[in-house]
Amino acid sequence: MPAKVVLGAQWGDEGKGKIIDIYANRSDMVVRSQGGNNAGHTVITGGKTYKLHLIPSGILNPKTENIIGPGVVIDPKVLLEEADSLLAAGIGLEKLYIDARAHVIFPWHIELDALSEDARGGSDIGTTRRGIGPAYMDKAERSGIRMHDFVKPEKFEKLARAQCEAKNAVITKVYCGKALDASAIIAEYSEYAARLAPMVRDTTVTVYDAVKAGKKVLFEGAQGTLLDLDMGTYPYVTSSHPVSGGVCVGAGVGPTLIDECVGVAKAYTTRVGKGPFPTELNDEIGEQIRTRGGEFGTTTGRPRRCGWFDAVILRLSVRVNGLTSVVVNKLDTLSGLETLRICTGYTRGGQPVADFPADLDELEECSPVYMDMPGFDEDITGIRRFEDLPQAAKDYIRELEKQIGCPVFAVGVGPDRSQLIEL
Ligand code: GDP
Ligand code: IMO
Ligand code: MG
Repeated sequence: MPAKVVLGAQWGDEGKGKIIDIYANRSDMVVRSQGGNNAGHTVITGGKTYKLHLIPSGILNPKTENIIGPGVVIDPKVLLEEADSLLAAGIGLEKLYIDARAHVIFPWHIELDALSEDARGGSDIGTTRRGIGPAYMDKAERSGIRMHDFVKPEKFEKLARAQCEAKNAVITKVYCGKALDASAIIAEYSEYAARLAPMVRDTTVTVYDAVKAGKKVLFEGAQGTLLDLDMGTYPYVTSSHPVSGGVCVGAGVGPTLIDECVGVAKAYTTRVGKGPFPTELNDEIGEQIRTRGGEFGTTTGRPRRCGWFDAVILRLSVRVNGLTSVVVNKLDTLSGLETLRICTGYTRGGQPVADFPADLDELEECSPVYMDMPGFDEDITGIRRFEDLPQAAKDYIRELEKQIGCPVFAVGVGPDRSQLIEL
């Protein structure tokens, strides 16, 4: 199966980075297709921890080609900081390519992300404030600056000056903020452009040629299905499409070229940022999961909200992504809990609700229906074969599989590359 998508099946931070890194060792190419440095993917290998935001997780494998596709929004400053830290760790960037169509995030996007969030007061979205939403807004409005123009000094200067002026009007007149200095931004960003220019190309051709040549191509998801602009808990979502369809648009590949779609989930649920979360635990158990699982955002350091596994959202994920299999990470975090609960459905006004509602007012009225299962106490982080797991852990995974209607293909029992049980 040469072309495979690995994406987040919940609200992000499912441990995609770890899974992609494992697969990357068996892949010729890793492609990011959407999102930006709102993503934070942790890869732990050989005792070293790498936190990647923009550069595909395949970069840790010297043989893998890495692509930042057309649908990604790129903060060049962050990209170069990440590149420099990888270079300092002895990781080469010769096989990193950036698509000419990708849009660039500028300081006005970051400023407007913060100003609009602040203006929303208590009803803010809880964005990462990395300028992601405003950059996608400009793209949809057709005023964004793409990589191919960013790397042409004269054209970039002209476009950036006009953009900065337009955004300054909004910053100062709508939000009463402080105007940005266009000349300073152009000077700083021109240096970034010069460094990135050699990496820019039409990556859709590179990806197509690789797939056609039978190479193993891995599409690295960012964010998660429930953060999708259309399929997620709108408006508490990101501004792009983390679902499998987003891979086709954002990497420029047709759906018939993709063979497999793997959803990554946690053995429980987390969410960072605001918005509904039916199985959230605002109690000691939630705190225990957060502490044991180290549930603090990779990008912003915010504590992640924790709750029970929700089969309703996984069924949505299986359906809208066409998942062919699921990886369940962080089973080890649940060790020590006496009872494990699985949300198998919701009820609303006493009536069963099988599918995740589109309308958040309806979702608000839903109560989760739980199935209780016995927990396990053992430390499972050293186990590598499914049959060696405690019976209660095996039963829990088999029940999840039944509830979501999709085969579980692997179980994560720790953050390291080696801590994965393949079924
Ligand atoms: P991503 O955004 O989906 O790549 O996930 P993050 O890296 O933001 O968050 C997942 C966190 O869980 C990271 O700290 C990983 O190192 C860690 N992790 C991944 N898989 C496992 C697992 O099976 N067990 C434990 N304990 N930690 C894991
Ligand atoms: P990875 O790839 C978890 C969330 C933010 C916020 C919402 C909108 O690491 O799984 P944005 O800055 O995108 O406009 O914020 O989306 N969010 C994520 N949550 N993991 C991520 O990425 C996320 N990327 C964005 O917290 O609720
Ligand atoms: Mg993350």
